[in-house]
Amino acid sequence: MSKLWGGRFTKETNKLVEEYTASIQYDKELAEEDIEGSLAHVQMLSECGVISSSDMEEIKRGLHVVLENIQNGTFEYDVSQEDIHMNIEKALIDEIGPVGGKLHTGRSRNDQVATDMHMYLIKKVNHFISHIEEVQQAILSQAESHVETVLPGYTHLQRAQPVSFAHHMLAYFWMFERDKERFQDSLKRTSMLPLGAGALAGTTFPIDRHRTAELLGFDAVYPNSMDAVSDRDFIVEFLSNASMLMMHMSRLSEEMVIWSSQEFQFIELDDSFCTGSSIMPQKKNPDVPELLRAKTGRVYGNLFSLLTVLKGLPLAYNKDMQEDKEGMFDTAKTLDGALQLLAPMIETMTVKTENMKQAVNEDYSNATDIADYLVNKGMTFRESHEVIGKIVLYGIERKKFLLDLTMEEFKSFTPLFEEDVFEVLKPANVMNARKSYGGTSPEQIAIQIRLAHDHLNVKENA
Ligand code: ARG
Repeated sequence: MSKLWGGRFTKETNKLVEEYTASIQYDKELAEEDIEGSLAHVQMLSECGVISSSDMEEIKRGLHVVLENIQNGTFEYDVSQEDIHMNIEKALIDEIGPVGGKLHTGRSRNDQVATDMHMYLIKKVNHFISHIEEVQQAILSQAESHVETVLPGYTHLQRAQPVSFAHHMLAYFWMFERDKERFQDSLKRTSMLPLGAGALAGTTFPIDRHRTAELLGFDAVYPNSMDAVSDRDFIVEFLSNASMLMMHMSRLSEEMVIWSSQEFQFIELDDSFCTGSSIMPQKKNPDVPELLRAKTGRVYGNLFSLLTVLKGLPLAYNKDMQEDKEGMFDTAKTLDGALQLLAPMIETMTVKTENMKQAVNEDYSNATDIADYLVNKGMTFRESHEVIGKIVLYGIERKKFLLDLTMEEFKSFTPLFEEDVFEVLKPANVMNARKSYGGTSPEQIAIQIRLAHDHLNVKENA
């Protein structure tokens, strides 16, 4: 019997069963975390007098050889050894002999795998936090160059009120800021050590879990061994935060697709971020934001599959939990791809300020402002809304925008109109007039930009 757990068995495992129950095909991604965890575990065992220091040295030496083989690609993963934990333990014993069998003292694969997953996510989450900051940085630099760039702001995808392009982009800055905070906050719950929980109930050996935590850089230790080995809420939380981040990136991508269309022509994506058509020579397709938008679906899917895996499981470990891995790896890979492309795509896009300006000159998105204008001249808002509605209808019928109307035409609706109405109607003035906190006027945007810098600096210095 070559299985590490073979003692109790009299028959070989069915090959299909072996294939079906193995996770080595994908959990080899955890190899480095697994070895790092084992190194800390034997160190702690020796400090606690559970194994001798010479055994510890020998095991550490062997683990380093195994690590080297994994890193240089000569390690042979064996599906009959089921998962990464047993592949490594088997390789260790092959390398240093029976003393390698002492590594698994006082632990189980259940606390071991949970530890590996925590370690993997701590690394990934920190990595994503810095990638989100790169996206924020790219947004911020576009915003800084376009405070005065006016474009139509939309509701219901109907032109609503002119806004600054900086203001529109900064809206995403704050969404990503919250996404980043969620990831940062999740580290509190991810930096908790399960190791030493054993299979479910703890161990009879005099181990020191806090020492292992210290060696591995964990902030805390799970206080309940059954909880430690049987929950995967830290992964659900990661998948949920990832879903939210993808949702935000997907919305921005959608805007980029729309803005770069022939109908809008508000931006042009850099050639290096687009692809062509095999049949239509004129085409330049925004494949990257389209795929990013689509890949959001698989991230949501991974969240739902893990929630579903967990919902009916009795305590403690169940083999079902092996299904926590592929969705997590896939999500990490999907986030990586999206975040890495989004920042340079934003940085390199050309903003077509003239087209944006032309668009606001050719719509009725300044209508609210003359409604407000009449209020300032003494009319109630309801009354003025009605008057302006009639003026807009009048304009539409004659193919005239508000700025094309003459003073006589304005006065025919109400004598309250005076020459200054033409100033109020200019799109730049419409934008500049929104000076309430968080509004789109340049003064308010300057406040936002300062705040945005503070947020990035705080995180950089932290
Ligand atoms: N490959 C397993 C997993 O990912 C490791 C834990 C196995 N534990 C067990 N009792 N069979 O969940």
